[in-house]
Amino acid sequence: MKTVAIIGVAALSLTLAGTAPALASEELAKKDGCLMCHNVSGAKKAGPSFKDSAKLGEEKILAALNDKAKHGAVKASDDDKKTLAKWIASMK
Ligand code: HEC
Repeated sequence: MKTVAIIGVAALSLTLAGTAPALASEELAKKDGCLMCHNVSGAKKAGPSFKDSAKLGEEKILAALNDKAKHGAVKASDDDKKTLAKWIASMK
């Protein structure tokens, strides 16, 4: 019985580690194609690195994502954009 409990705890901690927000958001940025044009940190690609954009704050980042002139080709859902804007703003 004790063994079962230990395995249960181990499985739970693995699950929690797997849902770390930073990793989830980087996966999201990859899925939505952001990383074709942006690095998370470091050198500029087509656009600035996310770390360099963090200082803009969540609202301006979200506005830039909804700006057709800048990101007309981006097909991310509204939920994804919100999550990504929050994640990028948190890097400052
Ligand atoms: C086709 C290339 C491309 C893709 C794909 C792309 N971006 Fe951009 N992004 C740019 C360019 C170019 C700029 C710089 C625009 C400017 O300076 O006016 C930019 C600017 C930004 C900025 C800075 C805000 C600003 O006003 O300059 C952020 C934050 C950003 N992008 C996030 C994202 C996120 C998140 C995604 C994915 C959902 C994404 N981008 C997908 C090209 C892209």
